[in-house]
Amino acid sequence: TKIAVMVSGGGTNLQALIDAEKSGIIKSGEIVMVASNKSDAYALTRAEQNGIEAVIMTGESDILNIFREKGIELIVLAGFLKILSPEFINEYRSRIINIHPALIPSFCGDGCYGLHVHEKALAYGVKVTGATVHFVNEVTDGGEIIAQKAVDVMDGDTPEILQKRVMTQAEWILLPQATEKISYEIMKGIR
Ligand code: GRF
Repeated sequence: TKIAVMVSGGGTNLQALIDAEKSGIIKSGEIVMVASNKSDAYALTRAEQNGIEAVIMTGESDILNIFREKGIELIVLAGFLKILSPEFINEYRSRIINIHPALIPSFCGDGCYGLHVHEKALAYGVKVTGATVHFVNEVTDGGEIIAQKAVDVMDGDTPEILQKRVMTQAEWILLPQATEKISYEIMKGIR
């Protein structure tokens, strides 16, 4: 399955995917392209360091054309912070997955990402949080849930400490696993 990863920032989730492909955790898919809406995203450097074609997207129509040309079959949003248009989602219905750093339906919908998610979790006083991989549809964080992984919230956690725990113990494990699962299903024609 040909995979494109869409990024906006540091690309630690992209790095987890690259490492998972190298270690064989991802064996039904190949990351053939990384696209960023931010020209200064360190994720682009990670792509180049690993010989993966990296493009900076100006608009959705141009990236859609590029994905079509490349024969992209699965799109993975890894720290991608732009809302995709209904047209984009429609073209890749059930073929776009996203990692959210909380246990959906918790924390939190529109315009809520990064540290703010963990601030909300701490403010609410939850004892567990975690990460969710879900299909992307027109509802922000609203698509079918594919996988979730919980982590403990510890006394004294700051948003930064909690984010790091969610990334290392949940996101970076869950996204490769979910990507392999969906890649396998697409390859076998059962998705
Ligand atoms: C992080 O807040 C992560 O929790 C979320 O996207 C942000 C950036 O991730 N998934 P990355 O380091 O760019 O993958």
